[in-house]
Amino acid sequence: MGVRRTLELVRKSVRYLELTPPVAIPANRKMRGRLKQRRCGPFCSLPAFHQRGLLKRHTIIAGSAVGTLPPIHGRQSRTYTASRRWFTIRASSACYGSGVSTGWFQCEVSYALCPPVHAGALELEEGTTMTTQRIRDFLATRRPDGPCLVVDLDVIRENFHAFRHAMPDSAIYYAVKANPAPEVLKLLAGLGSNFDCASVAEIEMALEAGATAARISYGNTIKKERDVARAHALGVSLFAVDSHEEVEKISRAAPGARVFCRVLTDGEGAEWPLSRKFGCVPQMAVDVLVYAHQLGLQSYGVSFHVGSQMTKVDAWDSALADAKRVFVQLAKQGIHLQMVNMGGGFPTRYLRDVPSAEAYGKSIYQALRTHFGNQIPQTIIEPGRGMVGNAGVIKAEVVLISKKSDNDDARWVFLDIGKFGGLAETMDEAIRYPIRTERDGDEMEPCVIAGPTCDSADVLYEKNLYPLPLSLTIGDEVLIEGTGAYTTTYSAVAFNGFEPLKAYVI
Ligand SMILES: Cc1ncc(COP(=O)(O)O)c(C=O)c1O
Repeated sequence: MGVRRTLELVRKSVRYLELTPPVAIPANRKMRGRLKQRRCGPFCSLPAFHQRGLLKRHTIIAGSAVGTLPPIHGRQSRTYTASRRWFTIRASSACYGSGVSTGWFQCEVSYALCPPVHAGALELEEGTTMTTQRIRDFLATRRPDGPCLVVDLDVIRENFHAFRHAMPDSAIYYAVKANPAPEVLKLLAGLGSNFDCASVAEIEMALEAGATAARISYGNTIKKERDVARAHALGVSLFAVDSHEEVEKISRAAPGARVFCRVLTDGEGAEWPLSRKFGCVPQMAVDVLVYAHQLGLQSYGVSFHVGSQMTKVDAWDSALADAKRVFVQLAKQGIHLQMVNMGGGFPTRYLRDVPSAEAYGKSIYQALRTHFGNQIPQTIIEPGRGMVGNAGVIKAEVVLISKKSDNDDARWVFLDIGKFGGLAETMDEAIRYPIRTERDGDEMEPCVIAGPTCDSADVLYEKNLYPLPLSLTIGDEVLIEGTGAYTTTYSAVAFNGFEPLKAYVI
């Protein structure tokens, strides 16, 4: 293929791919901190390559599919997929210009321009929008004013069935905190879900939705004693603990109840880690459960949470190994645990593809077999994000587009929703939501995206600029996808007078 034809092909198919910020860890010391793919075959000639902002701020990778480009190799077990943050690029004089030696380099890529044939799973495909037809129809006919979340119950139903199918032997305890809308709870209660609740208010919501107390777990390890008593009075008999002190409260306020002890996990691989604050080391879990037994409680099991938006399907393995050790230690003392609560962590697809529920199911089952052999205990899963995340879309509006100086590289796009309006999980730019506009076919430019409040922390994406159409205009509507989880509940206060996020469940 001639260079001209290749360029044309690439130009047509170039996409901005959402990856992580550029950090270079060169294998070759000479290159330390200077990893720049200045020369990458025909890419250096692409207009997009010269686009303002990109050249300075972003690493650009190109695939072997384009004519004469040097291939980008995966190394050893690392595969070239969207779920991996690391790419290994074989440096060569073709990549780095003259005078640079060869060697293996790892670089984390921010925006990559790739021909789709090579980009494959990396791409934010047009066909993969999470805005369902029902949501589109709702927005088109109801035309709600102001930012709002629209949740499609059909998607939640599908997710529930996918979990049930992928993990048929595990009881599903939906994590109410992810989205406690009454319609969502009612649907799940009707489908046979159990509920993981973090407070008495959530317990009451689950009961209101039709769940019996026997289907509720009070999964927060931090509870007031009077709340334990209220839950107990409502009939709840399953409680999480991670300390001796909490065991004492439960023994007083809910005598005879079942308790499970949460163990710490490292949260590695999770985009929203839950490590450190909850759980204790496995050896302490043994002591806590022995103590519970001594205080007349039923030491029932072990729990853990591998971290939210966990994209590694094998992340449950080491936590299950820990759980097994706790089982063994307690059995030596005549206490026979019955249950492992494997928590949530199942991801939603944001900008990158994530493994299916089935892939998690297989990997978790494998880990259970490895560690528990033929004596697999009762298991629980507590999906929150994975159950409702992809069911919701936030409709928002562009309030202002401006720059900070004439020669500013990036435009600032201010929306009528921000961190305090429900998008709290953009903290540290942890969760990057897909943002759709009517103009997505147009030329794109990396932008800063910020919310409408007078708080300078209310910036969604700045360290990693977000590609939006150059033609985007004040007043345009944008759809923020994958927002069914952890949005409405975070916007419970009208900060700066902006109303809490409205939600419509359809
Ligand atoms: C105890 C517990 N279970 C389940 C979940 C739900 O996790 P996810 O939304 O990652 O599925 C959480 C989230 O914070 C949690 O704290």
